[in-house]
Amino acid sequence: MAPKARIRMKSILAIYPGSFDPVTNGHLDLIERGAKLFDRLLVAVLRNLENDPLFDIAERVEMMAESTRQWPNVEVDVFEGLLVDYARRRGAQVILRGIRAVSDYEYELQMALMNRRLEPQIETVFMMPAETYSYLSSRLVKEIFRLGGPIHGLVPPVVEQRLRAKVT
Ligand code: PNS
Repeated sequence: MAPKARIRMKSILAIYPGSFDPVTNGHLDLIERGAKLFDRLLVAVLRNLENDPLFDIAERVEMMAESTRQWPNVEVDVFEGLLVDYARRRGAQVILRGIRAVSDYEYELQMALMNRRLEPQIETVFMMPAETYSYLSSRLVKEIFRLGGPIHGLVPPVVEQRLRAKVT
């Protein structure tokens, strides 16, 4: 009798790190794609930002949690310090990053290669959001909102509400 094949199921945990100040529909597009590809997706919100954030860490996490609750394999967490240290602690094999346009590539490549040098076991995987979001960024959303422009369709409803609450 032929020996039974040994099937090893490998569960891939990917980390999607970022500032998310605030989360945009572009981020959510990427999270949806990542949640389909990987067994578990951990959205890791960076606690301390170099520039003064508009939303503090609790607000950024709450908005992310609210906006991702329809995906059961997505978890939201906070991290600080080196991303690879956090990834190692959490047992992640993959760092997921989005590339919107060629202009993102240089910075992302530098980060991916540095992270690989720091932790060769973790692979960075790049995914492209839908082209509708290729020009969207948290920075532009904040600027448009500050100057009174429409942000509907660019961010999830909870972010729209929180932005409006900031000025009332
Ligand atoms: O949303 P962002 O601001 O583009 O995300 C950048 C982020 C959080 C992924 C990056 O700044 C980061 O990983 N910071 C943690 C500190 C770290 O590990 N730095 C070395 C990167 S090679």
